[in-house]
Amino acid sequence: MPTSDFLKRLGTRYPIVQAPMGGGLTTPELVAAVCNAGGLGSLGGAYLTPAQIHDEFRQIRALTNKPVNINLFAGGYERDAVSNPRPMLSLLAAAHEALGLPAPVLPSLPPDPFPSQLEAVVEVRPEIFSFTFGIPSPEAMNRLHQRGILAVGTATTIEEAGLLEKAGVAAIVAQGAEAGAHRGTFLGPFESSMIPTLDLVRGIRGAVSVPVIASGGLMDGPDIARAFAAGANAAQLGTAFLLCPEAGTPRAYRQAILAARADTTVITRAFSGRPARGLRNAFIEKLEGNEDSILPYPLQNALTRPMRAAAAMKGDAGYLSLWAGQGVTRARCLPAAELIERLAMEMEEAGARIQ
Ligand SMILES: Cc1cc2nc3c(=O)[nH]c(=O)nc-3n(C[C@H](O)[C@H](O)[C@H](O)COP(=O)(O)O)c2cc1C
Repeated sequence: MPTSDFLKRLGTRYPIVQAPMGGGLTTPELVAAVCNAGGLGSLGGAYLTPAQIHDEFRQIRALTNKPVNINLFAGGYERDAVSNPRPMLSLLAAAHEALGLPAPVLPSLPPDPFPSQLEAVVEVRPEIFSFTFGIPSPEAMNRLHQRGILAVGTATTIEEAGLLEKAGVAAIVAQGAEAGAHRGTFLGPFESSMIPTLDLVRGIRGAVSVPVIASGGLMDGPDIARAFAAGANAAQLGTAFLLCPEAGTPRAYRQAILAARADTTVITRAFSGRPARGLRNAFIEKLEGNEDSILPYPLQNALTRPMRAAAAMKGDAGYLSLWAGQGVTRARCLPAAELIERLAMEMEEAGARIQ
C-alpha cells in the first residue's frame, strides 16, 4: 500500500507514531499533543485496568478529535510458571533496605488482564489498536474489525510478521534490536530476534504486503528518512518522546536520559522477567551473575514494583527501570508538538520519499 494511502487510512498528517509506553509515561496530555500536531499518539494501556482505560481515553478525547491508538500486551503472561522465588527475594531485600522499604513479599498474580482490557478498548473504540508480545485470538481480531478499529501488531522477526499478516493486521510495527524497553518477541528466543531496525524493515517489507512501521533507535528526521528508504511506511519513536514535558517520565529517569553521554543501554530481565532494553544501573549490575534467580514475567515485574515505585518517589535512578533505546543520547527536550514538527521538517530535508 502506498504511504499516502496508509496515512489516509490512519487519518494522520505525518507518518510518525509516538510509541505506546506503558506505566504512566504516555499521559493523555502527551498522546493528545502528538495527535493534534499531526502524528499518531498512542496510549500504553498494558498496566491499566479497564476503568483506567475508559478514564484515560475520555481525557484524551476531551483534548483531541484526531485518531488515537491504544496499545496492550497480547501475550507472554505466564501466571503458572513454577520457580523458586527465595534467591530473588533475598537479592531484593538489600534494595528494599536501601530504599527504606519493608522486606519484599511474593505477590499473588491476578489472571491475565488482556481479555478485560481488550473489552474496554472495544468499548471506547479508538481508531487504532496496537499490540505486542503475541497475537489476539481470531475472535478478538474479528471484534476489532467489526468495530472498525485498525489492528496493528508488533514483529521482531520476518516469521512473526508473516503470522501477523495472516491474522489480518492493518500494519506491522517492525521492532528492531535498537528499540527501548521490552522485546515484543513471541516466537522463539529473544536472542534470535535481535535484528537491526533497517534490516528488519527491509526483510519484512519483502515478505508481507501490509504497511510496515519502523521502530527502534529512530531519533530524528534523517533516521526516519533512512527507514523509509528501507521500505517503511511510517516510524514509531519511543525514547525520542521521553523528555517531552507532557510525558509522565519521573524526574530521576529524565535526568538519567539527559546524563547519558554514550549508549549505556543493555538488554536485561532484571526488572520484569522479560528481556528489555534500558540504561544500565545499580539494580541491573546487582543481578549480573544471578540471572538464574530472576523470576518469569510478569511475576518478576510485580515483585519489583514496590522497589521501582519507591525509587521514583525518592528520585533514585539506581532502582528504577530506565527503559531507553540505543539512540538515547540524542533524545531532545521539546514539547511534543514541536518535536513532531521538527521531525517532519527534518524528514523532508533529508529527502524522505513518501510514495
Ligand atoms: C519506556 C518505554 C516503554 C515502552 N512500552 C511499550 C508498550 O507498552 N507497548 C509497546 O508496544 N511498546 C512499548 N515500547 C516499545 C516501543 O513501542 C518501540 O518499539 C520503541 O520505543 C522503539 O525504540 P526507541 O525507544 O529507540 O524509539 C516501549 C518503549 C519505551 C522506551
